[in-house]
Amino acid sequence: MAPQIIALLGSPRPKGNTAKLMNEAVRGVCDAGCEVEIVSVPKLKFSPCKEIFYCQEHATCAIKDDVTPYFEKFRDIDGLIVATPVMTMGIPGALKSFMDRFQVFFMAKYFRKEPLVIPEKKAHRRTLLLSIGGMNIENDFDGVILSMKAFCDIIDCPYWDEVLQNNMDGVIDITTRPDVMKAAYDKGYHMGELIVRDMAE
Ligand SMILES: Cc1cc2nc3c(=O)[nH]c(=O)nc-3n(C[C@H](O)[C@H](O)[C@H](O)COP(=O)(O)O)c2cc1C
Repeated sequence: MAPQIIALLGSPRPKGNTAKLMNEAVRGVCDAGCEVEIVSVPKLKFSPCKEIFYCQEHATCAIKDDVTPYFEKFRDIDGLIVATPVMTMGIPGALKSFMDRFQVFFMAKYFRKEPLVIPEKKAHRRTLLLSIGGMNIENDFDGVILSMKAFCDIIDCPYWDEVLQNNMDGVIDITTRPDVMKAAYDKGYHMGELIVRDMAE
């Protein structure tokens, strides 16, 4: 079976710049031999974590909603692409709330010491981050990267590489920046290649 990748879109704009960049990385990872499920997170209907600590004792979440199927899927995926704009110096609310729900994985790994991802799976898993910021400021991606690295650790899908592009407020259509589009395709392809190689070993 081809390696299974999930691509999370954090932007509410299905045809916005973040989506266009994600589609290039998806094209790359598919060309390398992987299969991808794209998840437009702002379209999901779900509640933020309620901190009721059900997952301290259970390998799932007490809340049943559109996030529920992803607990199982995130155990099985071979790689992850996360494409997000910077909003208020961090990850936009819907995507951040989706990530917070993976406290289920945190509790299993760090509280009960029973990780939900088997070591053989973790050995080849990788995450590629794509992020766009409108502003031309230093540290534009610091918040996004900090949260992403924590999330990758929690779900045992190590942070592998990134394509970060700030100063995009004046760029209505990112396809006018072929260098950025190519970087996303190339990183997607390379991540796919590495996962395919490692899974064949
Ligand atoms: C609510 C909101 C907050 C934002 N905050 C930031 C920010 O803190 N830093 C930044 O560089 N850009 C910020 N931006 C700009 C977006 O990152 C930028 O417009 C991005 O290209 C949007 O991606 P999209 O085309 O996929 O919608 C913000 C945009 C919105 C709508």
